Amino acid sequence: MSDDSNPRMHAGTGLEGVSIGPSEIALVDGENGRLIYRGHDAEVLVREHNFEEVAFLLWIGRLPSADETNVLRNVVFENMRHVSDDPAILAMLDPKALPMDAVRSAMSAWAMTRRMDEGGTPADAQAALGAIAGSVALLGARRAGVAPGEIKAGDTVARAYLRMMTGAEPTDAQVGALDAYLVLTAEHGMNASTFTGRVIVSTASDIGSGLVGAIGALKGKLHGGAPSHVSSMIDEIGTMDNAEPWLREKIEGGERLMGFGHRVYKTYDPRARALSEVAQRLGSDNERLALAHHVEQTALRLLHEYKPDRRLYTNVEYYAAAVLETIELDPGLYTPTFAVSRTAGWTAHMLEQITFPRLIRPQVEYVGPMPAA
Ligand code: ACO
Repeated sequence: MSDDSNPRMHAGTGLEGVSIGPSEIALVDGENGRLIYRGHDAEVLVREHNFEEVAFLLWIGRLPSADETNVLRNVVFENMRHVSDDPAILAMLDPKALPMDAVRSAMSAWAMTRRMDEGGTPADAQAALGAIAGSVALLGARRAGVAPGEIKAGDTVARAYLRMMTGAEPTDAQVGALDAYLVLTAEHGMNASTFTGRVIVSTASDIGSGLVGAIGALKGKLHGGAPSHVSSMIDEIGTMDNAEPWLREKIEGGERLMGFGHRVYKTYDPRARALSEVAQRLGSDNERLALAHHVEQTALRLLHEYKPDRRLYTNVEYYAAAVLETIELDPGLYTPTFAVSRTAGWTAHMLEQITFPRLIRPQVEYVGPMPAA
């Protein structure tokens, strides 16, 4: 509930609707439910291109040739493998730590050994992608107590990531589903974590520091921490009959339903639509997916009933949970896997920010007391 008498709660809090300036990287069209990466519709990219091609597009502004994709993969793989040889990074990948804390610390160790004093280059962005993919995959292997799988010639990033994490050969369906997830979550305009990264490099700091800050911002459940909460919500609901009473109780108790609502989308999130198709392809007769679909439909009906003027729809995290569950990813690694894909978007934005060397420094409206005269 808003409190109009509290000056800290007035409109403007949350920088809603404020532009930080021009960007050529992505358009998040919240009214029409479209997401464009550098002139390409993300819903088309996900059908025609893999994650590493999309990362190249975000960094360089055009899709790569087959040779360029191979060169990029080799850089990513070299940096994924390097994690196992770097004791400073390995020391941070504690399987008992909170996973996002382990990943944030591992990337801090990586940034320290790379010694980026200021700014960053596309080569740093590519290395960062490999370092974070390798760190999360190794963390996954450690959490599962398995020997990490080897990266093989001809792998895509999604296949190498899953094999390294599980020590087993993933199926084509699992690789395709993870790849679709990575493409659809690679970039999303001026969200909180991307903004954090841009603010950090705007001080003439480096993209390693920006990544560490961005990972911290993504950790929260109002941003990237939602999918594991979606899975636990569906676990708690348990049966179709329980969906409506459970959801009513939460909404009436003032709680937010995870996987619904978005600061920019005031219609169905296009990424949720694409991921729900992936989830359906993966397990059309899966009881869990049928329950997730029923919970979604019930939640949408109830959100509309209780908050008719709020335009609350399904967001990407809802079906991200369904896809990541179906590929049997450890729920503790949902948000770290999101950090892997978003490293492409974060670093693209940080590189763009470096080309406009202007310190981001907003103001705050002081409403506290003044010294007595
Ligand atoms: N469930 C119930 N009510 C909601 C939800 C929700 N998921 N989201 C927003 N609302 C309600 C708020 O309670 C508020 O109603 P009120 O004014 O009657 O109290 C109204 O809608 C507007 O909410 P805001 O907080 O102004 O919306 P904001 O733009 O700040 O929130 C956010 C966006 C944080 C994503 C919000 O919708 C939310 O908390 N969703 C649940 C968490 C989630 O799914 N996070 C993942 C987001 S996607 C991503 O970051 C990748």
